[in-house]
Amino acid sequence: MRRGAIVQLVVLAAAISAAVTAIAIFIPWLPVQASEQRERIDFVFWFTTAICIFIFAVVASVSVYAGVKFRAKPDDDTDGKPVHGHTRLEIIWTVVPLVLVIAIAIVSAVALAQNERLPSNHLKVDVTAQQFAWSFSYPGQGDLSTGELHLPVDVPVEFRFEARDVLHSFWVPQFGQKQDAVPVAERKNRTRLVVTPTRVGTYPIICTELCGLGHALMRANVVVERPAAFRRWMRERRGAQGGGGTARLAGRAVYEQNGCGGCHVFGPAGSAGRVGPSLDRLEAEARRANRGSLAAFTRESIVNVGAYIEPGYQNVMPNTFGQLPKDQLDALVDYLVQGARNGG
Ligand code: CUA
Repeated sequence: MRRGAIVQLVVLAAAISAAVTAIAIFIPWLPVQASEQRERIDFVFWFTTAICIFIFAVVASVSVYAGVKFRAKPDDDTDGKPVHGHTRLEIIWTVVPLVLVIAIAIVSAVALAQNERLPSNHLKVDVTAQQFAWSFSYPGQGDLSTGELHLPVDVPVEFRFEARDVLHSFWVPQFGQKQDAVPVAERKNRTRLVVTPTRVGTYPIICTELCGLGHALMRANVVVERPAAFRRWMRERRGAQGGGGTARLAGRAVYEQNGCGGCHVFGPAGSAGRVGPSLDRLEAEARRANRGSLAAFTRESIVNVGAYIEPGYQNVMPNTFGQLPKDQLDALVDYLVQGARNGG
């Protein structure tokens, strides 16, 4: 290739790669970074993307250049000059990609190994997934269990996942990783995930495994807060759930632990699930069902889920709630009945 041609090619390549790099860098494509692991994943992502942009620019430039420069003139029906292999060029286009792919593999392996590493000083959180709600418990923290995840900032967390019914998948976009929750019967080991939150804020927890009718609504929040605020929250929750709490607080705790709000609207709990009928209208539903007192109807609807189905809804409620311990079931029924009376 002549010198002039090479200069043209280099200018074209630089222009294309500058334009594509600007699009990649100046538009915020990704959610905010809120974990150490996400920062490593993003590094691998941008490392790979930079290589791709470079290769794309070279290939696009050569293609465009060749299309313009070597186009046959009108009425030129002669055959092109026969071209044979070019050993040096072939070695270059084999060795360069090989080196780049090995570099990506090494960078990825290092990021993965670092993301799996768990310091001995960490917080444990057990995550239970079920149609269609998340619940979280903190082992070693006095049976504390909740429907909204709270985490202290800059403290490594080990999540352990378990599903009650079908496969679900835990995803916080700002944390950058996903992990499946596998039903107990199928699991050999509980799946796990290490996350070190780095940014105070509230982020969505999204189920990313199609798990049934309410899949799109299977969401919760994770609140990342300063350690002092986290400790305060833990104390308050423990107070609400412990023996000192009133029956109503206990009922609310059962409601939240079992993820009832994932599928039901219920004003007193501030829940807005749309999969199942509204619990604010329990009294009207009980009248339609005509199956005894409000409390009896409420209890039957939990224990024997198919007994009455509100018009306009399908029965997708898990039948596992009948196995709740009696005191919890009593507290839950009481909580729902009181709340429906006061609200409705
Ligand atoms: Cu759980 Cu989708």
